[in-house]
Amino acid sequence: MSNRLDGPVKVTGRARYGADHSFPGMVHGYVVLSTIAHGEIEAMDVTAAKTAPGVLGVYSPFDPLTLHTPDSMFGKTWVPLQNREVTYYGQPIGFVVAETFEQARDAAMLIKVSYRQRPALTSLEDGLATAEEAPVSGDGSPAALQVLAPDVESIEDALAASPVVVEATYTTATQNHAAMEPHSAVAVWDSDGLTIYSGNQGANLQAAELAAALGVEASSVRAVNPFVGGAFGGKARTSAPAFLAAAAARDLGRPVKAVLTREQVFTATAGRAATVQKIALGADTDGTLIALRHDSWCSTPMDRSFVERTSHGTSREWYATQNLAICQKIVPLHVPPTTFMRAPGEAPGSFALESAIDELAVALEMDPIELRLRNNSTAPPGKDLQWSSKHLDECFRIGAARFGWANRSPRGRTDGDWLVGMGTATAMFPALRFPATVEITLHADDTAVVATSGADPGTGLLTVLSLVGAESLDIAPEKITPLLGDSSLPPGGLSGGSTATASAGSAIMIAAAQVIDDLLALASSPGAPFDGLEVSYADGRVLADGRSMTFGELLRAVNRPPISATGSSGPGEEVTKHSFSSFGAQFCEVRVHRWTREIRVSRMLGVFDAGRIINEKTARSQIMGGMIWGVSAALHEGLEIEENGRLANGDFAGYLIPVNADIPEVDVHFVEYPDTLHNAVGAKGLGEIGTVGMAAAVANAVANATGIRVRKLPIQIEDLL
Ligand code: MOS
Repeated sequence: MSNRLDGPVKVTGRARYGADHSFPGMVHGYVVLSTIAHGEIEAMDVTAAKTAPGVLGVYSPFDPLTLHTPDSMFGKTWVPLQNREVTYYGQPIGFVVAETFEQARDAAMLIKVSYRQRPALTSLEDGLATAEEAPVSGDGSPAALQVLAPDVESIEDALAASPVVVEATYTTATQNHAAMEPHSAVAVWDSDGLTIYSGNQGANLQAAELAAALGVEASSVRAVNPFVGGAFGGKARTSAPAFLAAAAARDLGRPVKAVLTREQVFTATAGRAATVQKIALGADTDGTLIALRHDSWCSTPMDRSFVERTSHGTSREWYATQNLAICQKIVPLHVPPTTFMRAPGEAPGSFALESAIDELAVALEMDPIELRLRNNSTAPPGKDLQWSSKHLDECFRIGAARFGWANRSPRGRTDGDWLVGMGTATAMFPALRFPATVEITLHADDTAVVATSGADPGTGLLTVLSLVGAESLDIAPEKITPLLGDSSLPPGGLSGGSTATASAGSAIMIAAAQVIDDLLALASSPGAPFDGLEVSYADGRVLADGRSMTFGELLRAVNRPPISATGSSGPGEEVTKHSFSSFGAQFCEVRVHRWTREIRVSRMLGVFDAGRIINEKTARSQIMGGMIWGVSAALHEGLEIEENGRLANGDFAGYLIPVNADIPEVDVHFVEYPDTLHNAVGAKGLGEIGTVGMAAAVANAVANATGIRVRKLPIQIEDLL
């Protein structure tokens, strides 16, 4: 198993993240945040701040840095300071730049803001009572969708005709990515334009957003991010510090660094929506699903810029059912923005759906795995396109054997003062690709460079570039230099949507085939060592006539500089032929203390069908992180929003995440079926699926242990009293 290439520099502290960059004359910015949830800024008294020691610039909606709203691949990106409207507590409303961070922060505290405050809607419950929004899907597909059997008039009829029905409402908390590396940027201008050092999920995408915001040519912005300290969707869009640092650096003629504090990350960036989901399942007595209705509501910011697609992300595709009705609605609130957060839609959606399936198993007195396998789908309901490759049943069978599922009793068991239960859940995440371009360069010293702008936000993409590059060029991985995280490299697309390996990997294969073709043409060209011969390539060597040379030897012999070729790939014809998804079976054992109701996860297992696994070590880490995140969603994480819109626990003292003592050994297993119907590499993506279903597996285990069904996340001690 290959090691993560960037592991040593990361664990020894030598990796330089965006904010680790420093330049002569660099100054520091501090972002000022609103202290009301809704209203208009009437005035900002910045007199004291402007004359405070070391202060170079104080920017506000009254003295703004001009920024245009850029169009990104996700729609418009919000830019700060362009108007006086406040729509949430903790919104960036000012930026102070000074010689030191401390001076900037001190000066920021001297700014006096007066607001014309308006009533704020900050709770999802209140919003649900008043909001009357038409359904939205968030991606242009039908927001309210029905698939009905030919003789069925409505989903209600199908439910009414079902011998066994379960119906329940599930809620999930709003969360924040809280990546280890806070959002930050170092911006430097010179005669060529802007260079920005800032963690993101796609250097070329960030460069394009910044160029549009600053009103300069795309070629005038270079975005650099060799290392990203976690992103999870939260760095897909460019955030306030990068826009502000870039614009202030241009205004002041000095390099500017801006780093959000940990507390600021919770509001000045975006997080995950809170959701309410109503599910009704109708089944025959043998467990066959007859009807599935899944109605969802999610919180959004007032600009309605992101929809957490819970029913679309799950019930739309997960089970074979003759009758399906899903609906997605939004509840705009005066709360910090929401955005993609690892498995957006699927993560909270799977808590609801997979809890409901477990409730149905209880009602049917049926084993939860048997129920799931009975309703295994060969294609999403109402779609003609079959899954390209689906081994979910094998995931469950292997998982059940590895986990000792046969020892599970429908009413759990006891071990001294502990109530012990097991739970399981399905995990699915669509297999997608985004456009990506890779350049491969062969050098005379027999090494090769594989380069794409992209980003490795901890997912292992750098290592994947080297492994797929080595395989495609038929040379050792040590001979490959992978390059990533620089917008001046060929456009690599997004490290998001669990797409990077399939997208970049396909492009690598195309680039490698091209550069090998070019090499062979060179080898047999007039005067070259294989002049006029029929040449072939294997093992890093050009062969003909029983002779061979490495590509480096050949380049030296013809006295050629390095040769390069690019390859591009993107979603293609395949999407008209099959449906594509990764699959998994999650297992969890919990121990609930009989008297204190302390909840402990004691065992976890995930078995996944994610196509070909390029590097088992980084793949396992990625899945393990997702599964732990699922436990976190189940038992720890949740932002508490006060009535005035302030986050009561927007810091690491109050926002709970699991520590090592909360997490047992995590068992991860892959069933490996390369899916070459999806892409030539055969990898389907596993960035996000690790977290999907895990919270439901925990809740189902808690129900098995205690007999108490908790339909909200996070599950807290008081829910089990
Ligand atoms: Mo992910 S939520 O696609 O970065």
